[in-house]
Amino acid sequence: MGEYLPGLEGVPATRSNISDIDGEHGHLYYRGYPIEQLVEHSTFEETALLLLDGRLPTRDELELFDSQLRRNRRVKFNIRTLMKALPATGHPMEMLQTAVASLGMFYPGNECLTDPQVCEDLDYIHNMTVKILARMPVIVAMWEHIRRGYDPVEPRADLTFAENFLYMMLGEEPDPMMARIMDACLILHAEHTINASTFAALVAGSTLASPTGVIAAAIGTLSGPLHGGANEKVVKMLDEIHSPEQVRQWLDRKLARKEKIWGMGHREYKVKDPRATILQGLMEQFVRQRGGNISRRFEIALALEEAAEERLAAKGVYPNVDYYSGILYAEMGIPTDQFTSLFAVSRAAGWLAHWREQLADNRIFRPTQVYIGEPVRDYQPLSERG
Ligand code: COA
Repeated sequence: MGEYLPGLEGVPATRSNISDIDGEHGHLYYRGYPIEQLVEHSTFEETALLLLDGRLPTRDELELFDSQLRRNRRVKFNIRTLMKALPATGHPMEMLQTAVASLGMFYPGNECLTDPQVCEDLDYIHNMTVKILARMPVIVAMWEHIRRGYDPVEPRADLTFAENFLYMMLGEEPDPMMARIMDACLILHAEHTINASTFAALVAGSTLASPTGVIAAAIGTLSGPLHGGANEKVVKMLDEIHSPEQVRQWLDRKLARKEKIWGMGHREYKVKDPRATILQGLMEQFVRQRGGNISRRFEIALALEEAAEERLAAKGVYPNVDYYSGILYAEMGIPTDQFTSLFAVSRAAGWLAHWREQLADNRIFRPTQVYIGEPVRDYQPLSERG
């Protein structure tokens, strides 16, 4: 029997050619392309297709995929009715998981996956990929209005993926800079090798569960604060600090109590997460565009990063992607409890790419365990148990 490694640290769970991390030097590649180049030159739509198909699309392929995404933004009114029946006080990630799982009831057909020719049914796989990717941002934005008692803003087919999300969420067309930054955030969160939620998607996918079931499993897994929920915690944490001058004292207190600093540390990166570096740069651009008025939160975040480096760098703990993404989203006017939903919208591209890869060479996941319980013993009748 193999050695038990808590958290499966370092244990390969699959073979994949979708993305790769160089944790020592702080690099991330999607299908071999550095994310810095994708953020600079690509769009979320193109990056999603790159992740799904393994190569940069031709102009025609990209136009087709983009038009499919735009055409699939409308959500059936029964889904809207279902969302209206959910408690407004519920967490948006639980709403998202519920709504995405329910999508499956409207688009049956996964029985084709049990066919021995499973991977031949590329039409079903592609159609469901488009439906899920296109509808997730719409559902997230719809919820923002529904939970406040209003009808949602209708999607628009003339806007890009990022523009339409911001338009539906905030009720007005975003300026080009804000849309560009949102697009960059979507690219940066789209994929990250075999993390907890992607692993959940692989495990669910390996049973030939429906794609909506697979993505719902991944959404539930992403919702935890040790994974996608961290950016929400970061903003709350920064708001606790009040001013950059209080940072060091606050940090000392936290570390003395052995508490975690949200948005810092990563199992894979031993240096600063490259996505955090890019997001910090985007935040600086955003600040410049708004006339140089640095937000209090951003100021505190920079001071905390500096102070934390002195205390935590020796352990390889630096800011991760969640450290700056939350601050950016908050500046854009996105409510804190929607940050992780936005992460899910983007990560759906990576989950779906991994689901497709799993199907192409499937074997159901069935790990083993190290049993540490009681030895075999005889049942004791209730009357003899005192
Ligand atoms: N704040 C303070 N100390 C931290 C830390 C953080 N955010 N992250 C790790 N450390 C410390 C641990 O306390 C441990 O110290 P020790 O060796 O003295 O006990 C050491 O660094 C190693 O940490 P460990 O928890 O073993 O790392 P991990 O690989 O198991 O955990 C995370 C990785 C992401 C779960 C962890 O860093 C964390 O909880 N971060 C905060 C949550 C977060 O931002 N998650 C989003 C990830 S993208």
